[in-house]
Amino acid sequence: MPSSASGFEAGGHRGSFLRAAEGSLTGTFSLVPQIVDRVNVPVIAAGGIADARGVVAALALGAEAVQMGTVFLACEESCASLVHRQALRGKKAGHTALTKGFTGRLARGIHNRLLEELNQGGTAILPYPLQRRLVRNLSIAAEAAGRADLLPLWAGQSANLSACTDTTAFLRSLVEEVSEIAGPISQWSAARREKRILK
Ligand SMILES: Cc1cc2nc3c(=O)[nH]c(=O)nc-3n(C[C@H](O)[C@H](O)[C@H](O)COP(=O)(O)O)c2cc1C
Repeated sequence: MPSSASGFEAGGHRGSFLRAAEGSLTGTFSLVPQIVDRVNVPVIAAGGIADARGVVAALALGAEAVQMGTVFLACEESCASLVHRQALRGKKAGHTALTKGFTGRLARGIHNRLLEELNQGGTAILPYPLQRRLVRNLSIAAEAAGRADLLPLWAGQSANLSACTDTTAFLRSLVEEVSEIAGPISQWSAARREKRILK
């Protein structure tokens, strides 16, 4: 079974189960090669990968695949609301933060009024999934009123790189760009992994 290496940059929930999410906040660039060096299964890199440059970097670090989340939220086909998708393409998408306030579990979203108020010291946060239900009630009204400042705007740190509007066109151009240079990089990474296994 492949191993997923999800960096601190990723949008949404942290995939931490063994210890507190706050104690395992490592960036993708640091995390991927360290996991690649320790496991003998394919590694999937996630977190902050939003275009061909990110995919190629992940392959160079030894990952055999990538997982992209935030970039697809901005696409027309995503189930994110129009307000959320517009926010992902706006200037404020460059400023994200972590919060337990959206659901009770640590998650990353665009820094807005909701996130800031939920992160204020002394604000009581219910355990997951009760907090999610509470915030959901607010989200329904905020969405209807077009209030991006009061919505949980799930997003990773590379939200600003999201160029995707149409998924098919985005994936086609991604595959095309990556294919041009991925071959030699993947071969080089595989050879490096092989040497390490033989050591
Ligand atoms: C809206 C949203 C919800 C997510 N929820 C979870 C989750 O419940 N558990 C989890 O392990 N990862 C979750 N993720 C992380 C994704 O699986 C993926 O690893 C991440 O989006 C990749 O980083 P990126 O957003 O920078 O592309 C979520 C991501 C988003 C955008």
